[in-house]
Amino acid sequence: MTEGSSRKEALVALALEARKKAYAPYSHFPVGAALLAESGQVYAGCNVENASYGLSICAERVALFKAVAAGEQRFKAIAVVTETMATPCGSCRQVLAEFGDDELQVIVADPEGQTEIYTLGELLPASFTSKDLPPFG
Ligand code: THU
Repeated sequence: MTEGSSRKEALVALALEARKKAYAPYSHFPVGAALLAESGQVYAGCNVENASYGLSICAERVALFKAVAAGEQRFKAIAVVTETMATPCGSCRQVLAEFGDDELQVIVADPEGQTEIYTLGELLPASFTSKDLPPFG
């Protein structure tokens, strides 16, 4: 087994575990995410819905915000587990692009462990980031 594939399997396993904690009584679509920081630490997240619907938050953003709050700003990969091997939504892609470069690996998986790997650059080409803002100050 290569280092890459064992890393992928470990991240998917953590995302699958996180998915068990999803609070998704409205959509019945639990999502789990596991984000690998450059430090080697992994931050897990699940979707957390709300009766007001619009305040619901995706698993990927929960994982990312936990990581940033813990002091991390550089990331290597994220695994996302859904029933349908869904790729992250547009909002999550944009939020990931704030901290991840185009090479960030996005591993999508289903509960049976089937996987597909994308890069963030593939999922959000020509992204809008701080490089597009004029210098300030
Ligand atoms: N969801 C995620 O957690 N991640 C995504 O990338 C797509 C959607 C959640 C939001 C909501 O709780 C449920 O899945 C249905 O959209």
